[in-house]
Amino acid sequence: MSQNNIKFAYWVPNVSGGLVVSKIEQRTSWDIDYNRKLAQIAENAGFEYALSQIRFTAGYGAEFQHESVAISHALLASTEKLRVIAAILPGPWHPAVLAKQISTISELTNGRIAVNIVSGWFRGEFTAIGEPWLEHDERYRRSEEFIDVLRGIWTRDDFTYKGDFYRFHNYSLKPKPAQVPEIFQGGSSRAARDMASRASDWYFTNGNTVEGIKAQVDDIRAKAAANNHQVKVGVNAFIIARDTEEEARAVLAEIIAKADPEAVNAFGHEVKQAGKASPEGEGNWAKSTFEDLVQYNDGFKTNLIGTPQQIAERIVALKDVGVDLILSGFLHFQEEVAYFGEKVLPLVRELEAQRAAAKAAA
Ligand SMILES: Cc1cc2nc3c(=O)[nH]c(=O)nc-3n(C[C@H](O)[C@H](O)[C@H](O)COP(=O)(O)O)c2cc1C
Repeated sequence: MSQNNIKFAYWVPNVSGGLVVSKIEQRTSWDIDYNRKLAQIAENAGFEYALSQIRFTAGYGAEFQHESVAISHALLASTEKLRVIAAILPGPWHPAVLAKQISTISELTNGRIAVNIVSGWFRGEFTAIGEPWLEHDERYRRSEEFIDVLRGIWTRDDFTYKGDFYRFHNYSLKPKPAQVPEIFQGGSSRAARDMASRASDWYFTNGNTVEGIKAQVDDIRAKAAANNHQVKVGVNAFIIARDTEEEARAVLAEIIAKADPEAVNAFGHEVKQAGKASPEGEGNWAKSTFEDLVQYNDGFKTNLIGTPQQIAERIVALKDVGVDLILSGFLHFQEEVAYFGEKVLPLVRELEAQRAAAKAAA
């Protein structure tokens, strides 16, 4: 596989209720046996990464949740190549605890663990566990300190840091991870993009149109270049691949028709409030409609819904505007990850090879 090929990740369903706030039948389970088997199916299908979710409390269709670092380790122990990204919330986690946990897991798994530093949208969750809820941009300022500190601990001896949120005095972590774990981060507000352009290895964003994604990628890459930093971009998509477009569209229509309006509206209210508190008054979900919000991270907007050929072409169009990774969600994870690996991924690789050949000939 070429270094340049677009990469694929899937959302680990470690939270009950799947990835859509809908009463449609879902053959996805949040339990550990289901997740172990899914991880094996995904690595055989050609997925490079799995992304776990962090939730401390129930709400909006997600009644139960396995903790992200623990489940990530379980999935790493059940696979050989897959990289698993553990979601982390600064606040509940102290960076010294996380640096130590991840360093050990890295050694146990041949360096296959990564982290996703999330800045949070769920105020009720912070209140429930007695954690202060910071203002929007303050949450990102803390996350950036968290990332700076993580890297510092992982790479330096006698690490000293005097931030507004974290302080370290001649701290030496032993052993350090042999390779520094990759650091992902998610959002789409200006604060999220600014932070990615300075601190993260990877920027994850909600689903969007190709034009919407291009605007973000251009902004981030320009800012990162000014900071002498490089950042890769991953985009969320809820994928519905079926043999015909009609079948795929019918599944989407059913998901939406069976949406749980109370849960979707409550979720929409919470995430819009979280974003409104930013100076621009805009966050990840500022423009999300009811239908968009039926998928937690606007995954229908990316429009990877249709036949394998249509989906492969749209994925390559995203790659053309600078996307490095597709983060995918599915209705029936095990079956659909396998179908994706068999029917869609080979077409993507074919289109990538054709483009590379055309470029070389030009
Ligand atoms: C791909 C992706 C994964 C995320 N995973 C989580 C998560 O597991 N737990 C969580 O509380 N927030 C998660 N978030 C939320 C973000 O950390 C961030 O708080 C949110 O996107 C708000 O962004 P905004 O500042 O652009 O409004 C995720 C966001 C994205 C884009």
